[in-house]
Amino acid sequence: MNFHTRKWIKPEDLNPNGSLFGGRLLSWIDEEAVIYAIVQLGNPHVVTKYISEINFVSSAKQGDIIEMGITATHFGTTSITMRCEVRNKITRKTILSIDKLVFVNLDKDGNPVPHGKTEITYAYMSIDSYPDKQ
Ligand SMILES: CC(C)(COP(=O)(O)OP(=O)(O)OC[C@H]1O[C@@H](n2cnc3c(N)ncnc32)[C@H](O)[C@@H]1OP(=O)(O)O)[C@@H](O)C(=O)NCCC(=O)NCCS
Repeated sequence: MNFHTRKWIKPEDLNPNGSLFGGRLLSWIDEEAVIYAIVQLGNPHVVTKYISEINFVSSAKQGDIIEMGITATHFGTTSITMRCEVRNKITRKTILSIDKLVFVNLDKDGNPVPHGKTEITYAYMSIDSYPDKQ
C-alpha cells in the first residue's frame, strides 16, 4: 500500500478530548478514496456507496504527522472496493483501518454504469480522457 497524502494535525482538527476528531479523519479518508477511485476509473462521477467497520486503532494528537494509504482490492462491474490504512508518519503506528470502502461509477444522469476496469493502473490519466470530455 502506498501512503501518499500527509496531514499535520492542527488545533482545529481536535475533539474536546484533545486528540484527532474521528469525523475530521473520515472526511479526509472519503476525499482520498474518491480521488483514488476517480483516477482508477477515469471518471469524475464517482460516489461513496458503502464503508465497512472503522477501527480507530490509536489516537493522534496535535502536531503529529499522519499519512493515508488506499489500495483497490476489487474491481466490480460498476464499483470499486478499496482498503484504507492511516498511520503516524514518524512512528508508523496504525491510527485507523477500514477493510472495505465501496465507490460506484456513475453516468451523467447519476446511474451506475460499468467502468470496464479490472486491475490497478498506475499510468497518469489526463482529464481529456474522461468520457464526458470527449
Ligand atoms: C450509488 C447509487 C447510485 C447506487 O445505486 P444502487 O441502486 O445501489 O445501484 P446497484 O444496486 O446497481 O449497485 C451498484 C454497485 O454498488 C454495489 N453495492 C450496492 N450496495 C452495496 C452495499 N451495501 N455494499 C457494497 N456494495 C454495494 C453493487 O454490488 C454494485 O456494484 P457492481 O456493479 O460492481 O456489482 C445509489 O445508492 C446512491 O445514489 N447512493 C448515494 C450515494 C451518495 O450520495 N454518496 C455520498 C454519501 S454522503
